[in-house]
Amino acid sequence: MPKITFLPHDELCPEGMEIEATTGESILDVALRNGIEIEHSCEGSCACSTCHVILREGEDSLNEPEEREDDMLDKAWGVEATSRLSCQAKLGDEDIEVEIPRYTLNQVSERH
Ligand code: FES
Repeated sequence: MPKITFLPHDELCPEGMEIEATTGESILDVALRNGIEIEHSCEGSCACSTCHVILREGEDSLNEPEEREDDMLDKAWGVEATSRLSCQAKLGDEDIEVEIPRYTLNQVSERH
């Protein structure tokens, strides 16, 4: 069973968290099941970018992103080479480490 390590995020999981998960689950589902309220404005239908996360380890064990995911990611705040939409990123067999960005696009636009 793969394990997800969520790095500390000031609001969503200040201490960070390690969670046992199941191959094939999305990162978003695992987070929500464990009380880490990653934003998910479109409810996981790959139509927003609020569920953006950055992989710090193990990104190669996830499913490949589809073109639509890459298109949506372009709109996210703070995108990096290992960014994924957590609702679309499905776990493989290996452990991964995930950083939740400080802001989502929704929050950034609320500030302006
Ligand atoms: Fe909207 Fe993931 S929740 S793309």
